[in-house]
Amino acid sequence: MFAIDRIRRQFPVFRLTDDHPALVYLDNAATTQKPMVVIERLQQFYGHENANIHRGIYRLAHKATQSYERARTKVANFLNAKQPEEVVFCRGTTEAINMVAQGLRHQVTSEDEILVTAMEHHANYVPWQTLCKQTGASFRVAPLKENGSLDLYLLGKMLNKKTRVLAFTHISNTLGTINPVSEIVELAKKHQCLTVLDAAQSVAFDQVDVQDLNCDFLAFSGHKIFGPMGIGVLYGKTELLADLYPYQQGGGMITEVTEQESRFKNPPHGLEAGTPPVAEAIALGTALDFVSEIGLLNIREHSQKTLNYALDGLNRLGKVNTLGPGSGTSNIISFVMDMIHPHDVATILGEAGVAVRAGHHCCQPLMQALGINSTVRASFSIYNDTDDADRLIDALKTVQKIMS
Ligand SMILES: Cc1ncc(COP(=O)(O)O)c(C=O)c1O
Repeated sequence: MFAIDRIRRQFPVFRLTDDHPALVYLDNAATTQKPMVVIERLQQFYGHENANIHRGIYRLAHKATQSYERARTKVANFLNAKQPEEVVFCRGTTEAINMVAQGLRHQVTSEDEILVTAMEHHANYVPWQTLCKQTGASFRVAPLKENGSLDLYLLGKMLNKKTRVLAFTHISNTLGTINPVSEIVELAKKHQCLTVLDAAQSVAFDQVDVQDLNCDFLAFSGHKIFGPMGIGVLYGKTELLADLYPYQQGGGMITEVTEQESRFKNPPHGLEAGTPPVAEAIALGTALDFVSEIGLLNIREHSQKTLNYALDGLNRLGKVNTLGPGSGTSNIISFVMDMIHPHDVATILGEAGVAVRAGHHCCQPLMQALGINSTVRASFSIYNDTDDADRLIDALKTVQKIMS
């Protein structure tokens, strides 16, 4: 039994005060709220354990290093990586993908092709486009079907022996489409092409097992899985991480520096230049413990159930078009309302205490493919329930009344 009241109580943002009325938070695809255990872990580190890592030889520094490396092990276990060394801490999904794109720069030539899909977040699109401009490689975009799902047949046809990288999302942050990762990776492997999986939206929704998916690299952000902002993860197979040129250089990542040259450490530390977000990494470990305790299967079932309930309400409203094949399958719904701009919808919902997102969702190429400028997006998480969905639908009725 999913004890939603017990879960909600762990998130201080939902506590009611006079100047903080009941919040309906449906912008979980942008960032999730933080449970008390994560907030307390940050406070505990900064209050009692603060020291830089991998540098000091006193007790406090040693303890901070141990906690940071323990967090790496927790991430590795969470993803079922073969070893903690396959986990590189960074600022988030955006930095992780840039790290791979720029890390491959010296290996990519003008003969190569880089393939992304039309549903990518800009974080998994622009870094590859830039890499192509830098190297002369061809930037290719796999199209979607009319219903907004990835056209696997055309994707298969676009892959060829020149394709160096296929970068794609696990779950579309706009449509909620869930891509069949294993099938896509298998297609890519036929051409010895590297696969980079954007798991920003999937890690807090479903079990992500890197050995099972067999992707070469994977990126996610701590703040989308109840952890702090400013911490994220790049997972990479050991031998492939070792092939990445460090995208940043400086302290902590070298073995030797002379006036003539510098030598770098092996991954993961060779890819973590400078002081990392130590407290945030440790608190990410706490967030993953929190998720594991609830169970990803429970999280997925609960989010889908709540979303389906909301979807029913949306369909009954009329004059609302939901977008993409993802509707009803993940925790994200995108929709447009006849003759009402998504920003007007989000503004009126905001007045009613319902937080949703409106805009292009950092997916301008997707908007171009769909022939629209923006959508309204509602995204659900473990603390949302059918009351939240009812409040969304009631507020949308108000939108229709005001705007008609
Ligand atoms: C699918 C997807 N990829 C990448 C990102 C970028 O994440 P971050 O801003 O945490 O780097 C997001 C954020 O919304 C996302 O939804």
